[in-house]
Amino acid sequence: MARLFEPLQLREVVLPNRIAVSPMCQYSAVAGLPNDWHLVHLGGLAQGGAGLVITEAAAVAPEGRISGADLGLWNGAQAEALARINAFVASQGAVPGVQLAHAGRKAGSGAPWLGGGVPPASWTGVAPSPLPFDTDWPVPRALDAEGLRGVAAAFRDAAGRALDAGFRVVEVHAAHGYLLHQFLSPLTNRREDAYGGSLEGRSRLLREVVAAVRTVWPERLPLFVRLSCTDWVEGGWDPEASVELARWLKPLGVDLVDCSSGGLVPRAAIPAGPGYQVPFAARIRREAGLPTGAVGLITGAAQAEAILEAGEADLVLLGRELLRNPRWPLAAARELGAVVPWPAQYARGSREPV
Ligand code: FNR
Repeated sequence: MARLFEPLQLREVVLPNRIAVSPMCQYSAVAGLPNDWHLVHLGGLAQGGAGLVITEAAAVAPEGRISGADLGLWNGAQAEALARINAFVASQGAVPGVQLAHAGRKAGSGAPWLGGGVPPASWTGVAPSPLPFDTDWPVPRALDAEGLRGVAAAFRDAAGRALDAGFRVVEVHAAHGYLLHQFLSPLTNRREDAYGGSLEGRSRLLREVVAAVRTVWPERLPLFVRLSCTDWVEGGWDPEASVELARWLKPLGVDLVDCSSGGLVPRAAIPAGPGYQVPFAARIRREAGLPTGAVGLITGAAQAEAILEAGEADLVLLGRELLRNPRWPLAAARELGAVVPWPAQYARGSREPV
C-alpha cells in the first residue's frame, strides 16, 4: 500500500490519506464571510480526494486581514457560513481544517489580481516593532501589553468558533511574515520587553497564542502550527531556532509543524525548486520528535510518496498543483496503485473507457 494513502491518526482524528490542501487565500470574501466561491472551491478539493482540506487563512480580527477580501472567524455569522461548507467537505470523506491568522504589519493589502500592494483606503497594521514591510508600506503600530493580550484572546475565540463551524483541525499561522512570524524573527522584533530579545522572548507570543487556543480547542482534536523555518536572510530566523521552538510547542499541545519558509521581508533570495522546503520538515521531525508536514513545489505522486517513505514528513501539503488539478489525489492513487473510493457520482470516470 502506498504510504500516501495510508491513514494518519492525530489524536482522535483520522485523516484518510496523507494529502492535505495547503491553505490558500481566495481574496473572495465579503466582510470575512465565505460565499459560493468558497463552497465550490473547497468542496471540489474534497471531491478530489485530499484527506485534509485546510481552508485559507481566516483572520482572527478584522484588522488582522491580509486583504479586505480575506475570510474571517471573528464573528458567529462567519462560523455559521463556514459550517455549511464544512458539512459538504466532510460528506466527501475529507477532514475540514482551518488556518487562523493575523497579518500584523502585512495587513491591509489588496488582492494580487488587483495589483496587490497597499490600497489607499487600507488600515495600518500592528507589529512587534514599528518597522514597515517595505518602503512604500505604512509604519505599523507596536503592540502594547493590552494589544498582546488581545491577540492571544482573538486566536482563542476564533478557535472556539472554528469548533462551532465543524472544523476538526486548526492551524495557527506563524509563517510567511505575518504577525506571529514578525515576533519570532530578530529582523522584525526589536522589542526590549519580555516579548523580544532572546528566542524565548521572541517566541513568547506564539507560545501564549497556542496555549490560549488549547484552552478551547478540545483534547481530542489536533492543532498544527505553520512556521517559516528560515527567513532566507542572514541574521534572520533559521532552522536551528525552528527546531528549538518545535520542542517547546510539543508540550503545549501542538501535534504537527507545517514547514514552510520565507515571506518576512521583500526580495529575499529563495532557492525555490522541487521539494525545496522538505529538509526543514525532515529536520524538525528528526530533531524535535514532532510530526511534520512538507510543503512547497510538491507536484508528483512519486515525489510525495518518496518524502513519506524516507521519513521526511508525515503529511504532504499541496497548493498550486491542486489549483491546476483538484483531483490530483485520485490521479495519484491510480499512479501509485492505491484503491481509493471516487465520489459515486463520478465513479464512471474512474477508469479508462473499455
Ligand atoms: C498561498 N499560500 C498560503 N499560505 C498560507 O499559509 N496561508 C494562506 O492563506 C496562503 N494563501 C495562498 C494563496 C495562493 C493563491 C497560493 C498559491 C499560495 C502558500 C501555500 O499554502 C503554499 O505554502 C505554497 O503555495 C507552496 O506550496 P505549492 O503551491 O508549491 O504546493
